[in-house]
Amino acid sequence: MFKIGVMASGGGSNFKAIIDRIGEGDLEAQCKFLITNNGGCGAVNHATTYGIPVYHISGKTHPDEAEYEKALCAVLDERPVDLLILAGYMKKLPDCLVEKMPDRILNIHPSLLPKFGGKGFWGLHVHEAVLAAHETESGPTVHLVSSEIDQGRILAQRKVPVMPDDTPASLQARVLEQEHDIYWRTIKEYGESLQK
Ligand code: GRF
Repeated sequence: MFKIGVMASGGGSNFKAIIDRIGEGDLEAQCKFLITNNGGCGAVNHATTYGIPVYHISGKTHPDEAEYEKALCAVLDERPVDLLILAGYMKKLPDCLVEKMPDRILNIHPSLLPKFGGKGFWGLHVHEAVLAAHETESGPTVHLVSSEIDQGRILAQRKVPVMPDDTPASLQARVLEQEHDIYWRTIKEYGESLQK
């Protein structure tokens, strides 16, 4: 049994998929907290439903950058976890956090990295770029987080076809469905490998 903490800013469908798998007993882990920079997001609703403590830490709650970073690190000190899981967290992590948890922070990205990753590639923009490049396949990547956006070691990828009549939204939905399956499996495999 290992401990995870999750960071999310949006709807939180990946977060929900992970805590559902924990609830089903497929993923033997405990989720100790959700950190969000968006107090009104769907991920917060899921955390509340499941009784998971929520920390709202943002530019609004902590306008001073140094205080913001300190608050993030304080959560990790208060509730230590084996893995920190980014599930649609829309802010770049401060270096102090990445250095605090080397090879212990995972992210999921909705393209086959290194393609369509880095600054500007988020949300529908990723899928728009995939379609504009006439790619025939796309899919999610789970990777370790390093100080450069979307550049850490790749742990898992899964391909889905790009259909001729795809819109960014239809491609996003097809990729997201696979995200919900690949993320918890990779967390399980990676988390268990750290315990050996
Ligand atoms: C997903 O597409 C994920 O790949 C990206 O952010 C999105 C989060 O979606 N990092 P959700 O909030 O989990 O529904």
